[in-house]
Order: sequence, then C-alpha cells, then structure tokens
Amino acid sequence: MNSAVARVAVITGGASGIGAAIARKLGGQGMAIVVMDVDAAGSQRTVAGLGAAGIKAKAVAIDVTSQQSVTDAFEQVRESFGRCDVLVNCAGIAKTFPFLEFPLDNWQKTMDINLTGSLLCAQHAGRMMVAQRWGRIVNIASVAGMRAVGTGRTAYGTSKAALIALTRQMAVELAEHGVTANAVCPGPVDTPMTQVLHSDKFRGEYTRAIPMNRYGSIDEVAAVAAFLASEDASYVTGIAMPVDGGFLAAGARPDLPASTTEDTWNCPLDGCVRPTGRTARRTRRSCLSGRSIRQQPMRTSQTGDTDRSVPCGPAGTGSRARPARAMRS
Ligand SMILES: NC(=O)c1ccc[n+]([C@@H]2O[C@H](COP(=O)([O-])OP(=O)(O)OC[C@H]3O[C@@H](n4cnc5c(N)ncnc54)[C@H](O)[C@@H]3O)[C@@H](O)[C@H]2O)c1
Repeated sequence: MNSAVARVAVITGGASGIGAAIARKLGGQGMAIVVMDVDAAGSQRTVAGLGAAGIKAKAVAIDVTSQQSVTDAFEQVRESFGRCDVLVNCAGIAKTFPFLEFPLDNWQKTMDINLTGSLLCAQHAGRMMVAQRWGRIVNIASVAGMRAVGTGRTAYGTSKAALIALTRQMAVELAEHGVTANAVCPGPVDTPMTQVLHSDKFRGEYTRAIPMNRYGSIDEVAAVAAFLASEDASYVTGIAMPVDGGFLAAGARPDLPASTTEDTWNCPLDGCVRPTGRTARRTRRSCLSGRSIRQQPMRTSQTGDTDRSVPCGPAGTGSRARPARAMRS
C-alpha cells in the first residue's frame, strides 16, 4: 500500500531554505503539506510552488514561541485535514556573539524558537499521532549540537544539543504508540540563514574542515528527512543523523595545505602573499617588496565574525584578501 498518499506532513519553518525543500520532497511523495511559518508571505510562496507542482498544500501562520499560536495552528490542521502524520520541526534562528558578551535576550529567543517551539509543536502533533498509532517526528538539529562549530554559537549550539536530547526523550516515550522521533544534523548548507551568518572567512575555514570539501544542499538534507519520515524508517528512532559531508568524522586535516583563502592576502603593491591574523595585527610589518604595511583595526561583522583582512601600503590603498592558492580541487 502506498500509505503516503493519505499522509499529512506539517513542516515548521517551511517558508524557506531547508524547510521548503523538505516540503517539496514530502509533497512529491504524495503527502499533503502544511507549511507553518512566522513568515506568512514566504509560506504563501512555498505553497504556491507546491500547488504548481500538483501538491496539495496549505499555509498556516505560526509563531512557535507562542503557546497560543501553536495551539491555533494545530487546530487549523485538525479542522482542515483531521490528522497529522509527519511533523518536521525546522523553524530555527542562529546568531553569533562572543561567549563572554553573549546577550541573554538572544540566548532566550534562540531557546524559545529552536527548542521550546519544537517541544510545543511535537506535543500537539504527537497527540494526533498517538491517536492514529502512527507518526514520524523529524527534528532539524545541527552538527553544532554535536560539536562546537567555531566560536559564537553559545545559544545556537546549546539549543541544538538540547533538541537532540529532546528527540531521544520523545523517541522513548512515543515508541509504544507507533511514533518515531529522530533528529537530522546538517552541516553547512547555503540558505537565507547562512547567507547572513557565514562570512567569507568562515566559509573558507568550514569548507576546509569538511572531507567532501563543500557545503551541502537543501535537497541533500531533505532526502534524509524524507527517509526518516517514511514507512521504510519504521525501526529507526531516537537517532541524530549527521548530513555533513564527513565533518563530524574528521579531526585534524594535516594532508591539506596550511593556508586558507582568508588567512592570506595578496599585497596590492607587488602581489606578494602575506598572512593575516594575530601576529599581523600586533605589528607593523613590511611586505616582501620592503614597503611598509599599514595595519587597520580589526572589524567585527554584523554576525560577530571577525574580519581579519589587512590593507597594505598607504591607508586606503589595500584590498580585501584574495585566495593565495586554491584550497583543494
Ligand atoms: N543552513 C544551515 O547550514 C543549517 C545547518 C544546520 C542546521 N540548520 C537548521 O535548519 C533549519 C532551517 O534553517 P535554514 O538554513 O533553512 O534557515 P531559514 O532561515 O531559511 O529557515 C528558517 C525558517 O524558520 C522560520 N522561523 C523563524 N522563527 C520562527 C518562529 N518563531 N516561528 C515560526 N517560524 C520561524 C523562518 O521564518 C524561516 O522560514 C533551522 O532549524 C536551522 O537551525 C541549518
């Protein structure tokens, strides 16, 4: 029996990025899709795209941080479809700040959306699933919940680690009712979130730490979420599955060249390659042509990532770092 035909999948954060890709994937398998997001216009766009592909879909406004909003949203699901077979908790936010100055309001907001929002939605969806004696909960966590991914992710990483723990708790308590709960832990994926969050320097460093030497795609994450939401995953529950090109498997990567795109820069005076970073910051140095290098204070980007580009020569004549050599083909 192709039971997916009658299934209803709710995807929070379905208006964009990974959530929208999961909506397309599950819809393509015959499920009716409920796109739940705080971004009403984005939800409508996703639903219009699904409709154009012949997929039955509905947009439902939700703010996962509000108990009332979550209650109202799932009431709409009950009224429109009478059931909820799959819940994908994908709504999430991420901002980075240094640990010692981490703002409490961002900590709280991140926990409210990434963690408590997933709990509330899973409780509502779970009640319907238990009554049906079948259900799949898929929580979109992150490799940042399993490892500190650089600096600044005090709230984000902790929220995702807690989401993985919450997934295990759901799995244990819902197993006897035919409901599974699993987490997907993506590595870096290009989405509206990471376009803001990841500086060029961070992208270079992150890519270098991934054995597959690239970011993942939204469809690669959607494929794993769809498996965990399928009949085929009937004996899989309580896991946290990385989708990360080998990032978590890797430690030091001494086989790679020592320098990265953003750790060196080309001197605009003579094209020589110079390091940036702590040493360069502290000292006035000369480039290989013997001319002096003028240091400028480090800047901090909107996301809190530090920009270490160092201009060379008279003030204002410097240029932003360009790759000194290809990272790896
Ligand atoms: N992009 C990555 O590299 C990456 C890596 C690991 C994990 N993730 C996780 O994947 C999920 C999707 O991220 P994305 O990269 O597609 O980002 P995105 O910004 O494109 O999508 C996040 C969605 O969540 C929605 N949202 C935010 N706050 C909400 C709220 N209070 N209520 C309801 N909806 C809300 C946004 O409107 C948006 O549509 C997130 O949970 C994120 O943490 C992303």
